[in-house]
Amino acid sequence: MFINLFSTSQTQERPTMAVSEKMKNFSVKSSWIRKMFEEGARLKAEFGNDNVFDFSLGNPDVPPPELFQEILLETARDTSPGHHSYMPNGGLPWVREAIAARMSAEQGVAVNHGDMLMTCGAAGALNVTMKALLNPGEEVILLAPYFVEYSFYVDNHGGVGKVVKTDDEFNIDLEAVEAALSEMTRAVIINSPNNPTGQLYSAESIGALGQLLEEAGKKFGSTIYLVSDEPYRKIIFDDYQVPPIFSHVRNRIVLSSFSKDLSLPGERIGYLALHPEADDKALLLDAMTLATRILGFVNAPAFMQRVVAELQEVSSDHTIYARRRDIFCKILSDAGYDFIPPKGAFYVFPKTPIADDVKFCSYLQDEKILAVPGRGFGAPGHIRLAFCVDEDFIKRSAEGFKAAVKRAAIN
Ligand SMILES: Cc1ncc(COP(=O)(O)O)c(C=O)c1O
Repeated sequence: MFINLFSTSQTQERPTMAVSEKMKNFSVKSSWIRKMFEEGARLKAEFGNDNVFDFSLGNPDVPPPELFQEILLETARDTSPGHHSYMPNGGLPWVREAIAARMSAEQGVAVNHGDMLMTCGAAGALNVTMKALLNPGEEVILLAPYFVEYSFYVDNHGGVGKVVKTDDEFNIDLEAVEAALSEMTRAVIINSPNNPTGQLYSAESIGALGQLLEEAGKKFGSTIYLVSDEPYRKIIFDDYQVPPIFSHVRNRIVLSSFSKDLSLPGERIGYLALHPEADDKALLLDAMTLATRILGFVNAPAFMQRVVAELQEVSSDHTIYARRRDIFCKILSDAGYDFIPPKGAFYVFPKTPIADDVKFCSYLQDEKILAVPGRGFGAPGHIRLAFCVDEDFIKRSAEGFKAAVKRAAIN
């Protein structure tokens, strides 16, 4: 039936369905996020940006490294023909070679540039991966707390996100994963260093998870891929090390971006790589390349591919995040919050002193502090605080954090 989207007539046979039922439901489910942002915008309009402590966004504020600007200008000056043309959907081969070389050192396994694709950020890489892997109704295990968009990305491609809790310290709970595995499981997504917890998974736990998936695959006659989403790999504190993912078990996909470690989230540039011995590697790569095309990405941005190829060995200054983490942890522990100090990324995920995390966020808002309720990450009873803000903001928020705890104690 033809529906005139511009009609204001009340006498139509059925109401205009401008938006699908699914999207309407998604909107309702995430309406508290909208409310939170609206409230944040209202506070900023009333009190000024400098007087609202906005810890809600994981938008890196540390500038990209100096070399970025240099390479950016150099790349812009190069007017060779074809630089802005279509290209192989998987990306420029020489760019993939540069990234594969760095990944080989990082992973301790020779990563072939033919086994990787350039993508529109880690989000693009996740969508391409899900599109390539999933049959309708197949399951992807998500370890809660998790990056909220995973469940949408899985759903985009007909899959079902199956949420499995991590343990009390946000480490992988192998028994819980084992209990959730079935003949419908296609993949498990891990994210370490983690958004929202800042937790880092140990080499042992990743090895044991890989082994578990290998055995489950044999039992169910399937391949279950371990998908490691790692845009925060380089943002790591103290002497912690992010273990390689490609050691031990073959069926692994690493995906990442330059959004966080080079502070380029708006540029939408990322990549994915398959383990050199992954099952059905050629089929999977073909499917991912086609997915890049038919999802409408076509290819990752050409200009940025050329720029990041030259930036494999540099990062923005992560000591700034480390310093903020120390200041924030001190403020939170002085105010009586219970939390695991983050080992990487730029988030801290304290427990809320009352069970209702949305209500506690409203107490914080009354102190002009914006935080994200943990329920948005599949972990109610927590808040996520992103320290992508100036040190001075963190320091000035201390009294507000204390006041919200005191209010929680008397309510
Ligand atoms: C865990 C995680 N994965 C993926 C993404 C998406 O990253 P990108 O901007 O590179 O698409 C984010 C962004 O916040 C994230 O936190």
